[in-house]
Amino acid sequence: MTGEADTARLRLLYDLGCAFTARIELHELLPLIIEKCREALMADGVAVLLLDRARNEFFFPYVAETDSEVAVRLSGYRFSATLGFAGLALTTGKSLKIDDVQHDARHYPGTDRTTGLATRNLIVAPLNSLQGPIGVIEVVNRRDGRPFSEEDLHFLEALSGSIAIALDNARLYAEARQSEARLRTQVGVLRRDLASQLRFDDMVGTGASMAEVFRLMETAAASSITVLIEGETGTGKELVARGIHRASARADGPFLAMNCAAMPETLLESELFGHRRGAFTGAIRDQPGLFRAATGGTVFLDEVGEMPPLMQAKLLRVIEQGEVVPLGESTPVKVDVRVMSATNRELRSDVKQGKFRSDLFYRIAVFPIKLPPLRARREDIPILVQRFVKRAAERQHKPVAGFDEASMAVFDAYDWPGNIREVQNEVERAVALAGEESQLGLEHISTSIRDSVAIAESTETISSPDLTSATAAGSQEEVSGNNGGTTFRKARAVFEARFITGLLARCDGNISRAAKLMGLSRVQLQRKIKEYGLR
Ligand SMILES: Nc1ncnc2c1ncn2[C@@H]1O[C@H](COP(=O)(O)OP(=O)(O)OP(=O)(O)O)[C@@H](O)[C@H]1O
Ligand SMILES: [Mg+2]
Repeated sequence: MTGEADTARLRLLYDLGCAFTARIELHELLPLIIEKCREALMADGVAVLLLDRARNEFFFPYVAETDSEVAVRLSGYRFSATLGFAGLALTTGKSLKIDDVQHDARHYPGTDRTTGLATRNLIVAPLNSLQGPIGVIEVVNRRDGRPFSEEDLHFLEALSGSIAIALDNARLYAEARQSEARLRTQVGVLRRDLASQLRFDDMVGTGASMAEVFRLMETAAASSITVLIEGETGTGKELVARGIHRASARADGPFLAMNCAAMPETLLESELFGHRRGAFTGAIRDQPGLFRAATGGTVFLDEVGEMPPLMQAKLLRVIEQGEVVPLGESTPVKVDVRVMSATNRELRSDVKQGKFRSDLFYRIAVFPIKLPPLRARREDIPILVQRFVKRAAERQHKPVAGFDEASMAVFDAYDWPGNIREVQNEVERAVALAGEESQLGLEHISTSIRDSVAIAESTETISSPDLTSATAAGSQEEVSGNNGGTTFRKARAVFEARFITGLLARCDGNISRAAKLMGLSRVQLQRKIKEYGLR
């Protein structure tokens, strides 16, 4: 062999060695192996035949593009791994050099028939990985018409070992990638299942509007999308944020909440973005800041609408570039956090008025979740009350089981401007007031709430057109709406009579208690009872 050819082969060995370490995917490796071998061995064709163990068949994982017709014919072609020289090399584990293929009885003509080409001479070497034989590499028809030399054969043998290992690595890598993708899908599905099974834990919500909230929460939990939770005070914004975090892939990471309205500007800045020791007076040590502390988890920015403009710019950088610049430092630091924010303001109108950066708004509001106020989902009130009673009773070690009907009616009728938190506080307070009784009554409910329900009821009654149907039993006043002469005074009398009757019944006729509940003195109530002839 010439020195020139030697150099070319050394070069090939070197190139392939580099490629084997740099490339790991089969679809990149195979064309390279085939092309380089063809060049170095001056052959018409080179084929890698891999073994399908389950079926004990050879198949062609890659066919060179150069001959597209042949490529198409070979792409689905398989044959028994016991046939021909390929089969022989595989089963014996030894390489072969055949100089006159067509006159050799061991020749299997199936492949030639498929390609339409005639194999004159060939060399073939088994590919043995650490796990055993994985296939063969076959080099056919030397271009100069002469048979392959012994040197050619040795060269192929030398190469086949590293080709086998490279192919095996590629296979293992592909398997690992596939199983990773499978696991990722499974985890995604499981998380979603878990999220919907948990119904986000302790969150109550039975109506259509809350069903939509739960649906959005499930979707949000399945990704790392930036979420904005909107809703009045006490509607459960933080609960939603925690629920999403707990059901998300970041569940094992921290959930760190910060109320942007609760801190002076400079303090908020260093709390969120961190500072370097000495960045300002009093900065006695490095402080990583919330975004770095929450690595792998979630940062929850409550009342994000209150964030001062300078910090809005810094937050934008976190969301857009995933980096923070701590106070007193000039180089940004990468952070890996999910940002969720909440607001009880109309952020859109803040944007219009220039109080909130519009670029930041569109970044934080990619996935908005709007929480309905409690007055729009009154159906949940009894369940919430029941749940809070149970919780408060346990915590306060009281034998309380629930509220009586009259007080539940007040819970139902009240407008709850403070939403769920107000219900919770009211229940806590009532349980705290309770003694040994198991049922809580009107007397345990705050006067302000009772009063506002009473006022609402009275206005409702007056505006009701149906005043004639239910005059108070034994009322001295003749009230009739038919003649159009119903006066406000009369209407009020009807209401008062009805209200007092009801209240007295609930208080088992106890005038003192009823008076207290109405916010009247005992004497005043007695006067009204007499006036309306209620006894
Ligand atoms: N759907 C719900 N089911 C049960 N409890 C709830 C629900 N929503 C909220 N709560 C409870 O109500 C209270 C207020 O909720 P949360 O703090 O999440 O409201 P918020 O919207 O963040 O209020 P604020 O605007 O005042 O910060 C919490 O104690 C929470 O546990
Ligand atoms: Mg909150």
